[in-house]
Amino acid sequence: MSILHKRPLLKAEIDKVAEVAGYLWQKGWAERNGGNITVNVTEWADAAMQALPAISEPRPIGKTLPHLKGCWFYCKGTGKRMRDLARDPMGNGSLIRITPDCAHYEIVADAPVAPTSELPSHLAVHDYLLAKGSTYRASLHTHPIELVALTHSRKWLEKDAATRMLWSMIPETKAFCPRGLGMVPYMLPSSVDLADATIKAIDEDYDVVMWEKHGVFAVDVSVMDAFDQVDVLNKAAQIYIAAKNMGFEPEGMSDAQLKEMTAAFGLPK
Ligand code: 13P
Ligand code: ZN
Repeated sequence: MSILHKRPLLKAEIDKVAEVAGYLWQKGWAERNGGNITVNVTEWADAAMQALPAISEPRPIGKTLPHLKGCWFYCKGTGKRMRDLARDPMGNGSLIRITPDCAHYEIVADAPVAPTSELPSHLAVHDYLLAKGSTYRASLHTHPIELVALTHSRKWLEKDAATRMLWSMIPETKAFCPRGLGMVPYMLPSSVDLADATIKAIDEDYDVVMWEKHGVFAVDVSVMDAFDQVDVLNKAAQIYIAAKNMGFEPEGMSDAQLKEMTAAFGLPK
């Protein structure tokens, strides 16, 4: 029987992951097994869950993450497709528990689906968020077409160049992605170096960071909120490209208009 049986709150969290996975596929951001999601579900891990035996041997995370001791995560499975996860989240992902040494995890349910290859980045970010006392519990990596395309130009890799342009395309972008878009230079997917660089960028106070020529990594209170931030940023990139395709450089909102918005919505500077 699924671990979600008679655990409606835990099931509701996993259902949100499945819903977002469907959106990622519909958006065209999730080719093949592209992208991954992890959610810290420790809050829903009751005593009966704690007592469950592992169904895998302990496996190394690649890092020691002291704030994750005993934490539980739902993780997309490596090689699994978002479009399949949308239908069957526990057949295409698993619940893992971090071991007391904080350097390993074990799979507990439902099936021994090996977690995403980007686990070092996801777990390092969750460790960072807990250390900071953040309420964020979800992290999402996906391959949004227009945002990834931007990172093929040096111009948009300059610190905050893309943020400024994207914010200026439509007022909602700054309202709903108020910390902008951080940049992480190209690094080998799934590497510990990429995990470290991701933490460094998030620590500069971004909720969404670009992995150059690869994808975005976003954090928020829930997976739905993380998705929304990426969605508004990619929409802005699409508006920029639509204007360019009409044969002109978009004017963009002025600095004064952005400043007015920031004050009116009480956004971070
Ligand atoms: P996984 O299938 O291991 O989650 O990898 C997908 C991906 O996007 C790697 O960056
Ligand atoms: Zn990827």
